Amino acid sequence: MSIDLKNLTRIPKHVALIMDGNGRWAQERGLSRIEGHKEGAQSVRAVLRAAAQAGVEFITVYAFSTENWKRPPQEVDGLMKLLISSLNAYEQELHDNNIRLRIMGQFERLPLPVRMRLQKTIDATAHYTDHTFIIALSYGSRTEIADAVKKIAEKVKKGELKTKSIDEQTIAEHLYLPDVPDPELMIRTSGELRLSNFLLWQLSYSEFYITDTYWPDFREEAFFEALEAFNRRDRRYGGIKKQEP
Ligand code: FPP
Repeated sequence: MSIDLKNLTRIPKHVALIMDGNGRWAQERGLSRIEGHKEGAQSVRAVLRAAAQAGVEFITVYAFSTENWKRPPQEVDGLMKLLISSLNAYEQELHDNNIRLRIMGQFERLPLPVRMRLQKTIDATAHYTDHTFIIALSYGSRTEIADAVKKIAEKVKKGELKTKSIDEQTIAEHLYLPDVPDPELMIRTSGELRLSNFLLWQLSYSEFYITDTYWPDFREEAFFEALEAFNRRDRRYGGIKKQEP
C-alpha cells in the first residue's frame, strides 16, 4: 500500500525517533552488530529524505545514549567511525534539501575526530532554515535535566533569577536546544515499549508510534505510515474532545 502525502492534513513539525533493533536485524542474518548499524545508517538517510518530502521541519534521532558507552569498545568504536562515514554520505543530502545539522548531548565526550567531523557539517549547514536534523549523541535526558537545574541554580546564586519565578518555561529554556519545539510524534522501532532516557521533558504530550519493524528495515514508506497513523490520532493535551453541536 502506498501512501499519498496529499491526504495527510496534519504534518508534525517535529518527529523524534528511537532507532532500535539494529543488533537483532544483524543477528537474524548471521551478521555482526556493526553491519546492522551500517544498514541502520541507510534508514536515517531514507527518513531524512522522506521527512523533507513530507514537510517535517525537525527530525531528532537517538543515535548514541549516555548508557551506550558501556557497550563493548569494538562496537562503540565502530559506531563512532560509522558516524563519520555517514556524515560524509549524507552531506550532499543536507545541502540539497536545505537541512541544518545540530547535535544534542555531551559533545565534549565524543572522540576528537568525531567532534571535528560533526563541527564541519554543523558550520556548513548552519544557515539552512527549511529543516533541522538533530542527532542525539552521548545523550541522556536525566543528565540534560540535571544540567538545566545546575544552570538555573547558578543564576539564582548570582541573583539573576528569583526562586519563586522558576516555572516550566524556565526549565524548558535551560535544556540543550531551547529553541526547538517539542516533538509532536515519537517513533520507536523494534517493538520495545520504553522511553530509554530519551527527551523525557520534551515528549510529555507527544504521540507515540511503536512499530515491530527493526530500524534497518524502517525506510520511506514506514515513515509515511507513521505520519498517517499520527493523522488518525486525536490530540487533546489533557482537555476534552470537542462536542458535536
Ligand atoms: C540501537 O540498536 C541502535 C543504536 C544504539 C545505534 C543507532 C545508530 C545508527 C543507526 C547509526 C547511524 C546513525 C547516524 C545518525 C549516522 P541496538 O543495537 O540496541 O539493537 P538491538 O536492541 O537489536 O540490539
